Amino acid sequence: MRAAALDHFGGVENIHLAQLPVPEPGPDEVLLRVESAGVGAWDPYEREGEFAKMFGTRPTFPYVLGSDGAGTVAAVGAQVHRFKEGDHAYALALTNPKGGFYAEYAAVKADQVSPIPKKLTVEQAGVMPSDALTALRGLDEILKLQKGESLMVFGAGGGIGHLAVQLAKRIGARVFAVASGDDGVALAKRLGADAVANGRKDDIEAAARAFGGLDAALVTAGGEATDRALRAMKKNGRVAWPNGVEPVPNAPSGVKVQNYDIEPSPQQLEKLNRLIESGPFEVHVAHVFPLDKAADAHRELDKHYLGKLALRPQ
Ligand SMILES: NC(=O)c1ccc[n+]([C@@H]2O[C@H](COP(=O)([O-])OP(=O)(O)OC[C@H]3O[C@@H](n4cnc5c(N)ncnc54)[C@H](OP(=O)(O)O)[C@@H]3O)[C@@H](O)[C@H]2O)c1
Repeated sequence: MRAAALDHFGGVENIHLAQLPVPEPGPDEVLLRVESAGVGAWDPYEREGEFAKMFGTRPTFPYVLGSDGAGTVAAVGAQVHRFKEGDHAYALALTNPKGGFYAEYAAVKADQVSPIPKKLTVEQAGVMPSDALTALRGLDEILKLQKGESLMVFGAGGGIGHLAVQLAKRIGARVFAVASGDDGVALAKRLGADAVANGRKDDIEAAARAFGGLDAALVTAGGEATDRALRAMKKNGRVAWPNGVEPVPNAPSGVKVQNYDIEPSPQQLEKLNRLIESGPFEVHVAHVFPLDKAADAHRELDKHYLGKLALRPQ
């Protein structure tokens, strides 16, 4: 199969097209013919070898990046009964020892594979899983967001943020979205945010106070504007941010601030699919790159774009 692979960790110039064997699915795995792969904001970190250091793994090369993907089931292991050849599915796997989704095929543990909700295209499903499950865990398990509460989504035009806006509306929260640029503001409005501000130029603290203050905040980008916005948190307010956000958000004393990681589970995937199916839902794909342009996709990560970037391996 064709894959965008690394012979060693390092800069973007190390990503190159390679011919690799199709991975063999184990008894509890699904072999996916990958038609869409997500390019994650964290992929450069993995490309540089930082995940291998962090998790203490011993990676082998050629190394294939990509923790999100979707496509058609090509084969299943003997213990897998939920999927059969020909099903459309999406999946996630961070630092998969059998290789990531920047490839024509990927073998993934079946408990991290899900049917594609009807209203999503394969392309959308492939870029969604990590950011959607991170958004959902932040809102549901960390912030314990309740109907009627006011929530700020900071970074609302980004991968996690644009999905969080929609999931928070499903939960019944009042959403104040802080997005980057006029295009980010327009996207967040279209996705149903109750109020939207441009975090690159507006006075976010004033806008958040005009919104009535904030019970909770999901922060996906850090910096001075973030910390200023957090001054509008109510006493005993809650802030959640996924590890990776830098600089680390600072909130006034009395506000509970919690960082967290994605913890994928079949139950969460089911919950996500139910929430997606229960109303309109958009996974915004800004740009799609062919597999041999994976390095360009990594360069694009450094620029402003909305939602997600995708690779099309097939
Ligand atoms: N720990 C975990 O389990 C986990 C899981 C997934 C992701 N993450 C991490 O979470 C972070 C966010 O991920 P992501 O996929 O959502 O990244 P992303 O797509 O880059 O989204 C971040 C968004 O924040 C925006 N932003 C930056 N400064 C802003 C400001 N002052 N005002 C308004 N918007 C602003 C960015 O806009 P621009 O386009 O202008 O830059 C971008 O749209 C990353 O660090 C990622 O690695 C962690």
